This record gives sequence, structure tokens and C-alpha cells, in this order.
Amino acid sequence: MANEILAELFRVSLIMSAAILLLTVLSWLLRSKTSATARMICWVALAMSMLVPVRPTLYTLTAPKLMSFITDTLATRLDLRTEPRYLTEQTGEWVQTSEAIAGTQASDASANSQDSIVTSEIQPGVFTYIWLFGFLAVITVCIIKHFLFLRTIRRWGQPASGEISNLMNSVKREIGLKRHIRLLVSPVITTPVLIGLFRPIIVLPDEKIESSKLRFVLMHECFHYKRGDIWVKTLSLFTLAAHWFNPVVYLMKRLLIQESETACDEAVLRHAGADSRFQYGETVLYIAKRGKQAEAALFSSFNGHGNNLKKRLVDIIERAAPKRWVSVVCTTALAAVLLLSIGMTSIQAQSGGDANDIPEEDSPVIHEVRDEPDSIPDELHGLKDIYKDYFLIGTCGDIKMLSNPYWEVLSKEFNSFTIENAMKPQYIQSKEGQFNFDAAGEITAVLADHDIAVIGHTLAWHEQTPGWMWDDRDKAKERLEAHIDAVIRNCGPQLTSIDVVNEAFADYTGDSDWRKNLRQDTGWYTVLGADFIEIAFRKADEVRRDIGRPDLKLYYNDYGLHSPAKADAVYRMVTELRAKGVPIDGIGMQSHYSETLSVDDVENALAHFNTIPGVEVSISEMDISIIGSGGNLSLTADQSAIQSELYARLFTVFKKYAKGQANTDESKRLIARVTVWGVTDGSAWLGKSNPVLFNRQFEPKEAYSAVANPEKFLEFMTATKDL
Ligand code: XIL
Repeated sequence: MANEILAELFRVSLIMSAAILLLTVLSWLLRSKTSATARMICWVALAMSMLVPVRPTLYTLTAPKLMSFITDTLATRLDLRTEPRYLTEQTGEWVQTSEAIAGTQASDASANSQDSIVTSEIQPGVFTYIWLFGFLAVITVCIIKHFLFLRTIRRWGQPASGEISNLMNSVKREIGLKRHIRLLVSPVITTPVLIGLFRPIIVLPDEKIESSKLRFVLMHECFHYKRGDIWVKTLSLFTLAAHWFNPVVYLMKRLLIQESETACDEAVLRHAGADSRFQYGETVLYIAKRGKQAEAALFSSFNGHGNNLKKRLVDIIERAAPKRWVSVVCTTALAAVLLLSIGMTSIQAQSGGDANDIPEEDSPVIHEVRDEPDSIPDELHGLKDIYKDYFLIGTCGDIKMLSNPYWEVLSKEFNSFTIENAMKPQYIQSKEGQFNFDAAGEITAVLADHDIAVIGHTLAWHEQTPGWMWDDRDKAKERLEAHIDAVIRNCGPQLTSIDVVNEAFADYTGDSDWRKNLRQDTGWYTVLGADFIEIAFRKADEVRRDIGRPDLKLYYNDYGLHSPAKADAVYRMVTELRAKGVPIDGIGMQSHYSETLSVDDVENALAHFNTIPGVEVSISEMDISIIGSGGNLSLTADQSAIQSELYARLFTVFKKYAKGQANTDESKRLIARVTVWGVTDGSAWLGKSNPVLFNRQFEPKEAYSAVANPEKFLEFMTATKDL
């Protein structure tokens, strides 16, 4: 979580820097047309917005590529994300992402950052600590300076004379200020200052200042107090502390303080004629000559303009107040620019972090359902309708998929949804006995309302599971059973099927004893041996009956099952355990494929599993990864054709083995569901390799047409190949 927030902060910092520079230029151009107060409001809004690293989505645009590139690269370089643990299943082997897409990461600007989901559970990285150190250092230095300054003032300060107090009272009356403000004179300061967030004090240098000048000085400081400028300064301090690494923010703080001085000058001079302006100018000059006050933190100094004295004097003497309507128009323009830049950050967040969000405890389901998605041409029928008599057509994701624009695609195309992460042990029971079903519960509730079958994933797995579960051999069985019990009891009523055991088999499976082919050095196996599979299925069976859902299908799920050896190992496990009465109802073939896939291998595996009576198969996490070599690493026309042809050929095979009544060969009714692992290339786990049916703009890809009508697609391909 810490890393995600930090990544977001960097993103906000970078994009808001552009906003700061823009506002700087605009303020300068529109200086004579806008009041300093209006400009200051814009700066304050900007500073405040930089403290909130989360943005509402104001509108959807594609983020400027350069921005995505920079922020993505930054996040990657700073290691604010973790790599997914697999890339793709190639003849039963996993290839690590970093190897497979070496060199592509930095330039793949808008590609998914699905991997960031893992970061929520990892420990804050070294950059988080560096950031925290900087943040605390800035705040601490300010606080120390502030208190040292206060101490000096208290020590050397004397109450001001009655004459000054009387002048102060008349100034307060004039500007309608009631609050008591202490007045001190101190030999250790050179320019008048206002200090104190809650108990304001004006401190004057200990020397005789002409009463006409003093009147201006007091009025200026009273306006500072009235307008809450010390609070503004505090705000700018926090913004600076949060973005201490960003030099542009120092510029912002400086400009903000200058505008606050100008705004006070404007307030003092609102009804002043030329004479008063000259006198005020003289006062400013007189104070400026006395030298700059040593910088302390939370106070406002009469000489706060620093080196900009000339500009200040010109403003004081020459500037008439802008016409009201001009000021309104210009301020609106400034505000619009600001809104645009804040919006840009949200766009950036959307495009750069196009991942399935981690199911946050309280993340609301934004549930805007529109009937006709704009981005999907009308002539396309939803895949779910095309395949309704064959099998369920599914996709996966977490809460984010339930809001537009994902929801438009999801609800039109799919009638089944696998909860991608929210039901994994790491999220459901990160600490022993502390269950969190919020995210999974929200997802299942919304999907049930829309008649979308929900698939639970996953109970016993060696990944994304907290280590405490298997750190004590004696407690392991009890813990596994308790976890399964709680999850099925809570989520089971809404589910169609659930992956009870995931990825128990090793990649190299040559031994005739299936137990020896299991992953030996991981999680449940190390504490319970091969028995953990049986324990898990038996417990799941017991609970599903208990909650009145004996029809809830219990699945064994794994990747690489088109590899003959691994498929056979799973086959032997399932047949042996079922013979012993262990209720395994289905085999999930994950099907993370790449272009090297042999479709015949897939068909052979299906034929093999089809010989186990009473067992169904689901293609549970399908994708076909191809690293693009087109612009932005998208697929070239040739690559797209290769991917689409593979999809088409696979779907013709799936149709042959469909469980639904559309399959006229009853002996081959096997496949209950085909799930594509991700709604769009932008949101998919392996999104960098363009693996699914919709592109990052939510448009159907060529692969979509291939799936929608595989036979026609192949026919067309063959015809055009011969040309
Ligand atoms: C993946 C998710 O898609 C990612 O969001 C997450 O970061 C890592 O896990 N096999 C499985 C799935 O059974 O749970 C994995 O999902 C992909 C591989």
C-alpha cells in the first residue's frame, strides 16, 4: 500500500509540476487583469490538491504518452511495482516476465500495471523510507525554526507602547477585525511580522517608525491575519514537505507567498488614492532597507516579497484594481486551467495504472451501467449470447471491473466472472482469524444482480497466501480447514464453482506416481504432504453441503495442462482421488498460452480428461501472449493474425468439447466455461503482451472476431492466404 501511494504521489507531483508552471505563466500574463486574491485562491487549490494523491475521474482521455512514459518508468525504476511471477505458459513452462519482455517495460507506456496489485502486501520499499525521511526533515526543521523564533520573541519582546496600541485599535476598527492580537516590539527583528496560528502576535522592530508608516504596517499585518495567510503558509509547508523532492514545488511555495503579500497590499490599498499609494510604497522601501528578516517557519513578514521589491513597488504605485468582469473572466480561465491539470492527473492515474485494483476494504463499487456501450459496434453480439448453448463465457477482475468503462464490456460480453484476487488467502485472511470478505462480498452481490456467474478463486495455493498458514506443522490442517470453512460459508452461496486447489503440480512431471510430481518445496505440501489436496476437497465438500449448495462445483486448477505429461499427472490424481470418494468435480485448465502453442496438445488433453466420468473442464484463465512490435508494443497486423488464428482454432476445439446442448456429440460434453483472463489488454495480468480480446481503448480486437465466429474466421483466413 505504501508503495502504491508513493507511486501515485510521484505521478501527482510530476503532473502537477506542469500545472504549476502553467499557472505561473498564466498568472504572469494575466497579472494586470486578475486580483492577487483570485490568483492566490488558484495557488491554494493547487497546493491542496497536491496533498491528495487520489483523483476523481473527471473525464476519460488518453493520457499524454510522454507523461505515461515518464511516470511508468519512474515507478518501475524506483521499484514501486513488483513483477508478476509468471508470464506465459509455453509447453508447460513458465517464463519469467522480466526475461520474456526484457527491454519492453519502459517503452510500453500505457501497458497494464497489473503487477502493482501485488505491491499492496509487500513491505514499504527503501524509497518509501527515503521519502518519509525527507518529509519529516522538512517538517521538523520548520517546527524547530518556528519554536526558536517564538522563544526569541518571547524572551526579548516587550509589550508595545500605548500609542501603538491605540493605532492598532483604530486600524482594527477600520478593517472590521475583532480578534485580539498581541503587539510586541523586539530588538531582534528587522521587519514587522505576524506570528501564531491560534494566538496571533504582531511583532515590530524596536525603534521609532513614523505613525503614518506604522499604520500601513499594522493594517497589512491585520489583513494577513484576517485572510488566514498563516494557514495558507502552513498548507504550503505541508505540500512542500510531501513533495520535497520536486524543485518546482519550491517555486510554487515562493510564488504563493508572494501572491499573499500582493493580496494584502491590494487589500490595504483598495480605496487608496495616489498619495496613499506613494506613502505605502515608501513604507515598503523603508522596511526593505532594514534588511530581510531571518527566515522562520510559520509567520508572515511584511518584507515577504524577498527580491521582488521592484515589482511590488510598481504594483503598489501603478496598479488600479482590475475591472470586476475582467477579473471574473480571467479567474475563471485560471480555475479552468487548474481543473484541467487536476483532471489530467486523474486521466494519468487511469491510463498509467490501468490495473485491476486491489480490493481495498472500503472501495465503493461505482456501478454505472449503460445499456449500449459506445465503444462496441452494434453489429457485434455479446460473446455470452453467441456461446449461450455451449458454455459460460467468462472474464476476471476485481472491483474496478464493475465500473465503467470496464463494466460496459463485461456486462455485454460475459456471463461469468472469476474474482481475480479478492478471494485469495492473502486478502481474505491476511492474519489468522481476521477475515475480510468485503471486496469479495461486494463483487458477488453486484454480479448476482446481473445474472453473471461468479467463480471463486482460490483456496489452497502456494502463492498469494500468508506464510503464517503453514508455519506450524501441527496447526496446518486445522488452519487449512478453517480457511476453507470460512470462505465457502461466506462466499459459497453466491458462487457457481470454486478453485479449491491451485497449481499443486510441478512443471516437470515425469514420475508415474502423481504424488512425486507435486511441487515439493512449497506451502501446504511442506507441512501436509500430498494429503493437503484430499483434505482441502473433503472440507470444501462438507461445507458446501452444510450451506445447502451441493451443486457448487469444486475444481482443481492448474496451468500447462496441455503438456501431455502434466495433463496425465493431473488425470491420475483426479481419477485416484475420485475413486476414493474425494469430490473433485472439475479441472481448470488455466491456458495462459503463447504463439508457440500446439492446439493439438490442447485437444489431446481435453480428450484425455473427457475419459474421467463425471468430471467437467473449464478453460479457466485463458490468454494468448504475444509481445507486440508495432507502435507502443501493440501487435502488428501479422502478429494480430497469428493471435486471432490461435484463438479461432482453440474455440473450434472448445466448441467440439462444449458441455452445453449445442454440442451434438453428447460423448464430448465436457467444457462448462471458457474464461479469458482480463477484460482489456490494459487491465489484464499479462497485459503487456496484448493477450486478451479487447484492446486498451476498450475496442474489440481481431481476436474478438475470431472468437465470435471461429469457423468463419478460419475460412476467411484460408481464403485470403491463397490469394
Ligand atoms: C494473477 C492475477 O491476475 C494478478 O492480478 C496477480 O497480481 C497475480 O495473480 N494463476 C492463477 C491466478 O491462478 O491467480 C494468477 O492471477 C495468474 C496465474
